Amino acid sequence: MRANKEKPLWKINRDFISYAAPIIRNGGLQKTDSIQQHGATTRYSHCVSVAYYSLRAANKLKISFDAKSLVTGALLHDYYFYDWHKKNISHLQNGYIHPKVALHNAMRDYDLNPLEQNIIVRHMFPVTPLPPKNREGLIVCITDKLCGLAETFGLSKLPLPDCTDIWGND
Ligand SMILES: [Fe+2]
Ligand SMILES: [Fe+2]
Repeated sequence: MRANKEKPLWKINRDFISYAAPIIRNGGLQKTDSIQQHGATTRYSHCVSVAYYSLRAANKLKISFDAKSLVTGALLHDYYFYDWHKKNISHLQNGYIHPKVALHNAMRDYDLNPLEQNIIVRHMFPVTPLPPKNREGLIVCITDKLCGLAETFGLSKLPLPDCTDIWGND
């Protein structure tokens, strides 16, 4: 946890890159850049948008929160590798199923704390019955819906910090 003073955008962008880099470099998140999520948006881009705008929203609210866990949970909230469009399952069915699949995959590939696990498994509330247990999860849950709507209807090209340096192995 840290102080609840609102940070300037450049510091939020710097924090985002530092928390996102180990998640994007390791594990399989980059593979989801070839899977369609909403409209023309890939699952990878959706997850980056949700993580980045969740971090900005939490800063805007001037609440104390765990920024590293928020970014980690948000980046991995849709960490599954099938294309539900091709599997021919309904959006509602996938809404029930994929949080548990994402958590299973994420725990296999990353070392996650209970807060990060809860962000992932509860992010589909109210499609799934249990709400997030913490403020970080609630912010991710709401930001996920807003990003999904914007992506589905192509309302805007969401600006994101430059993540190009994160890709590739070091
Ligand atoms: Fe999801
Ligand atoms: Fe999502």
